[in-house]
Amino acid sequence: LTPDAGRQPAGARPVELVGVVGSGTMASGIAQVFAASGHRVVLVARSLEKAGTARKRIAGSLDRAVAKGRMRAEDRDATMERITPADSQDALAEVDLVVEAIAEDLAIKQELFANLDRVCKPGAVLATTTSSLPVIACATATSRPEDVIGMHFFNPAPAMKLVEVVRTVRTGDEAHATVHAVCAKIRKHAVDCGDRAGFIVNALLFPYLNNAVKMVQEHYATPDVIDTAMKLGAGYPMGPFELLDVVGLDVSLAIEDVLHKEFRDESLAPAPLLRQLVDAGCLGRKTGRGFREYARR
Ligand code: 3HC
Repeated sequence: LTPDAGRQPAGARPVELVGVVGSGTMASGIAQVFAASGHRVVLVARSLEKAGTARKRIAGSLDRAVAKGRMRAEDRDATMERITPADSQDALAEVDLVVEAIAEDLAIKQELFANLDRVCKPGAVLATTTSSLPVIACATATSRPEDVIGMHFFNPAPAMKLVEVVRTVRTGDEAHATVHAVCAKIRKHAVDCGDRAGFIVNALLFPYLNNAVKMVQEHYATPDVIDTAMKLGAGYPMGPFELLDVVGLDVSLAIEDVLHKEFRDESLAPAPLLRQLVDAGCLGRKTGRGFREYARR
């Protein structure tokens, strides 16, 4: 399973300058991964303030890596210098690859892809890290669907080794080869999958997380007990409630809604308790409260 860092599949285009769009946990993590592996990164958010917050989050993550002895201080500084924050998509004109990590809202993503089509140079690969929306719907918002592809990273992006590479019916061989070559360079293991809701991991993971919430809702067991049971009994690194709080309850609900709709299976309907927590603003670690409470960082 070790990625072959030197491999350059036939037809892959060179990627040096990378654009990351978004300012949340995923966007910051993805920008960090590219910058740490030697790419120059343009990090585009809706405002310079949001881009600055994302940059600070990356600095905090790299500081922890230095403190743990996993990174040298000079490599942290060089990584940070490779990241340029921006508040306009016009800054993406020269990038070789864009990874979009904005809100899970199809209309907003389609608007972004239509604009990337206007702004980015010919040959740039336009990737989305959507968790569950159809990649083809982003592709058809552009005049170059052959260059649009899914690059689904996992949370926390710097730690999780997988990228699901989602090829639509219109994705070209060159964009596909480019993304495989890039994954090898950033030392992520790439798996190919089709353009279906949830791809591989989320299609299997979220029904399980939803069933855990149903267990709590039915007072069958508490979140603490279920988390402990799944860690000690199934060997998972985090229990389902720890993971829901990390991923975000709003993001989880959006994924479950899409899975429910696509597979037309009533057993996949999100547990009402999850929706209630989202309505109450309890979104997980990022708001200080989800299934558990957290000290705000
Ligand atoms: N940022 C950067 N690196 C991090 C990190 C973070 N937020 N959290 C942990 N890491 C790194 C650590 O630095 C450490 O690296 P090292 O081994 O080189 O020192 C490594 O990950 C292991 O971390 P720790 O020893 O501190 O902690 P754990 O052993 O508890 O591992 C974990 C942390 C890797 C996050 C582990 O708990 C885990 O695998 N959890 C499950 C995560 C998961 O399932 N994610 C998928 C969610 S679904 C998803 O993302 C899809 C999306 O569409 C919603």
